[in-house]
Amino acid sequence: MDAIVKLKDDHKKVEKLFKSLAKDDLSVVPAICDALTLHAAVEESVFYPAVNEETQDEEDDIAEAFEEHHLVKILIAELQDLDPSELAYKAKATVLMELVRHHVEEEESDMFPEVRKQLGRTRLREIGDQMEAFEKRG
Ligand SMILES: [Fe+2]
Ligand SMILES: [Fe+2]
Repeated sequence: MDAIVKLKDDHKKVEKLFKSLAKDDLSVVPAICDALTLHAAVEESVFYPAVNEETQDEEDDIAEAFEEHHLVKILIAELQDLDPSELAYKAKATVLMELVRHHVEEEESDMFPEVRKQLGRTRLREIGDQMEAFEKRG
């Protein structure tokens, strides 16, 4: 599968959960955390390194993406230590949603179109296959 199609598909699934969160359904928070943890690992282990090595002028975007993932992971770790009844739980989940929506917007509107232009369809399919293999390995 094309790497960018797969990543956008992940984004869509998380956005669906965010819609429930935005309606105050906190029961979706663990699923959001699990989905984001796997998605970030796939990007950091397979997609971003390929982009860094094989494209021109994407280093700044990738470095920023790593920093945003870092903040996402901190929020996830803190959420996993909190009881959902605590006031901070909903607040942290909301900040996580805002941060991820911003991050996804940058990936989809800046990084991905540039990467698609530079890497092309065949290479993106190979990277997509590597991403799927990474997920299967767990
Ligand atoms: Fe990302
Ligand atoms: Fe992403």
